[in-house]
Amino acid sequence: MSRYSSVFKDESKLDINYVPQHLIHRKLQLNLLNQFFRFAVESPGRMTQRALIMGNIGTGKTVLAQHFGLNITKEAKERNINLHYVHINCRECKGSLFMILQRIITKFYPNFPRRGYSAEELLQALMQMLDEKDAYLILTLDELESLISNGGSDAIYNLSRIQEDRINAPKRLSLICILRQPEHLETLDPSTRSTLQRNIIRLENYSESQLEDILDDRVNLAFRDGTVPAQTMGLIAELGNSEGGNARYSIELLWRAGKYADASEIREVSPECVRNAVVSVYPVVRRDMIPEFSLHEKLFLLGVARHFKQTESAYVSMGEAEEAYALVCEEYGETQRGHTQLWKYVQALSVSGIIETMVSGVGQRGKTTLIGLSRVPASDLEQELVKVLSREGR
Ligand SMILES: Nc1ncnc2c1ncn2[C@@H]1O[C@H](COP(=O)(O)OP(=O)(O)OP(=O)(O)O)[C@@H](O)[C@H]1O
Ligand SMILES: [Mg+2]
Repeated sequence: MSRYSSVFKDESKLDINYVPQHLIHRKLQLNLLNQFFRFAVESPGRMTQRALIMGNIGTGKTVLAQHFGLNITKEAKERNINLHYVHINCRECKGSLFMILQRIITKFYPNFPRRGYSAEELLQALMQMLDEKDAYLILTLDELESLISNGGSDAIYNLSRIQEDRINAPKRLSLICILRQPEHLETLDPSTRSTLQRNIIRLENYSESQLEDILDDRVNLAFRDGTVPAQTMGLIAELGNSEGGNARYSIELLWRAGKYADASEIREVSPECVRNAVVSVYPVVRRDMIPEFSLHEKLFLLGVARHFKQTESAYVSMGEAEEAYALVCEEYGETQRGHTQLWKYVQALSVSGIIETMVSGVGQRGKTTLIGLSRVPASDLEQELVKVLSREGR
């Protein structure tokens, strides 16, 4: 056995999918959600609700909704109400209503046939299932940007309309939408937008001291006593604060710093471990996001990353990006996708935040889309993509 024991006692408490038992500094927002959906445990079937959670990256939108979901289904159970909370990430479903509905339905009926239905029919089937089970559903559509940018406002409109069409039947489907970029609201139809805007929960960026409280709680759960000094937590909170009060970034830094301590066989997570961690953690880009991109999104991104490795310019034009992508396709023995398809990839990648796009201004002939990569170093992105592609057998 090694002389050095790990600084961690339970690393899983720092996992991205872990839902903490205590939500810190979000009591007010949790109360608001509870109020909006009070009817679901008091008079289910009488009404439905739509609410919108908005806030910057890492401000606790997802965890707030999940926390609320756990609480309310627990309470419903105690009251013998068949209430379900389903949390769907639209980006993971490629912004497709069809995939979203399929995911929901297979939660109820794992063997439901995967083919042969349109989104419209799936929605009808879902309502029928809820009727048969006398069940109610609070559906959270997380990272709604993907759904909007892929299908416009139709998808949300249809989800809302399905209730209104069932005049005398019990109301069974409520929605919580989660959005990071408020400008996407503008593209919704006026009636959906106005309902959502009536029930907005805004999450402000965390302050440095709030981040410290969140970190403190996580340190107690995940680390052995006395392994994370106050100075270290202070430094991480400061860094998280400078990245827009981003709790995810702070927690990832904490985890990574712990890993450095273990790798260097020291018993304490020193500020130096944090400084080492900073180099490999990006506040906006989530590593777990990369494997989820489709093969050609990855290849396209790889082209973009390689292009930026060779140039000092801040943006690459769509044409240049396509050329770089063509080279990557050749290398990987893949047939190139057409311009329209690539255009869709660019939009999806931009919604995910990994690249940003703008339309070229003065000085360029005609208008062209420019692609920027400001949030992650090109060489790191390239490395990560190559790793993921090779893991996938490419
Ligand atoms: N108030 C809080 N108390 C405890 N942990 C929190 C709190 N807020 C956020 N966290 C933790 O911080 C991390 C990021 O939170 P979350 O994923 O909910 O952010 P988000 O707003 O959904 O970010 P994104 O915009 O990237 O989706 C998670 O690990 C979450 O558990
Ligand atoms: Mg989230």
